[in-house]
Amino acid sequence: MKNEYIPFPAVIEDIRGETVDTKTFRVRFTDKNLADSFQYKQGQFMEVSVIGAGEAPISITSSPSRKGFLEFTIRAMGKVTKSIHDLKKGDTLYLRGPYGNSFPFEELKGKNLYFIAGGIGLAPVRSLINLVMDNRKDFKHIKILYGARTPDDLCFKSELEDWKKIPDTEVWLTVDKPCVGWGCRIGVVTELWKDTHVNPENAVTILCGPPIMIKFVAIKLKESGFEDKDIIMTLERYMKCGIGKCGHCNIDDKFVCIDGPVFSYEEIKHFRAKEHAF
Ligand SMILES: Cc1cc2nc3c(=O)[nH]c(=O)nc-3n(C[C@H](O)[C@H](O)[C@H](O)COP(=O)(O)OP(=O)(O)OC[C@H]3O[C@@H](n4cnc5c(N)ncnc54)[C@H](O)[C@@H]3O)c2cc1C
Ligand code: FES
Repeated sequence: MKNEYIPFPAVIEDIRGETVDTKTFRVRFTDKNLADSFQYKQGQFMEVSVIGAGEAPISITSSPSRKGFLEFTIRAMGKVTKSIHDLKKGDTLYLRGPYGNSFPFEELKGKNLYFIAGGIGLAPVRSLINLVMDNRKDFKHIKILYGARTPDDLCFKSELEDWKKIPDTEVWLTVDKPCVGWGCRIGVVTELWKDTHVNPENAVTILCGPPIMIKFVAIKLKESGFEDKDIIMTLERYMKCGIGKCGHCNIDDKFVCIDGPVFSYEEIKHFRAKEHAF
């Protein structure tokens, strides 16, 4: 009988510092067959564990179009994530999954896309961004609107520069507190509406960030004329099992681990749970 809770070892091949408390880990399953055959979808997550510390749900930030390895961008928050941060190249992480639903992909073809993220919220969205970039001709204009507390808190800095160079792709940045030499906007993500036209025509928005950001961006998108079904977001919720058994992740009538973590605004606008209410 298959035991869903058994994790598989993966060796850490590379670690990149993103911000003072956030690192990106590139890992490869130690079982070569599993490494070669493993499949996942953009927006899914895995339960990532360190023996003796426990496990935490973490989004897969790499794109399914780039095979053989997985990437996780992890902020050191508590026991598990701090233990992961203590690991070095060559050490082992344990993974089970992938879990949850995914961002649409085929349905986005031929559309203008807006990716809107705050802080580490760019991590799950990056999986879809790079999948889209690897199939760039299938999509129309792309705008990435990204905000963080300070310039040092922006993740994937060199990739933000690379995406800017791709034809028909714009990257707009904002921070709450600038540093000397900061040349972009100051303020919350919705302030970027002053820099670039956000046009709902033939467009879909993908967003991720803290609940307060999601709430205000969704309001702004509605004011800009987006339909509820064209506002797609990925939510975080405290989780245990990741597979719909424990009930830890429920918001109103949904289990984030199996009904989500990706939802359209249409599906969740009725949520009454305080931090996710619109
Ligand atoms: C689908 C999904 C994807 C995620 N993707 C990422 C990712 O890509 N990168 C990343 O860094 N994180 C991600 N997270 C968040 C991460 O799983 C949590 O931060 C996790 O709790 C960290 O575990 P920890 O043991 O290190 O910290 P914890 O000890 O769990 O503490 C982390 C934070 O959660 C709070 N907390 C602890 N227990 C509860 C509780 N019962 N209810 C509410 N809050 C509580 C703590 O106060 C603290 O602020 C994701 C979460 C989900 C659900
Ligand atoms: S995390 Fe256990 S039911 Fe969703």
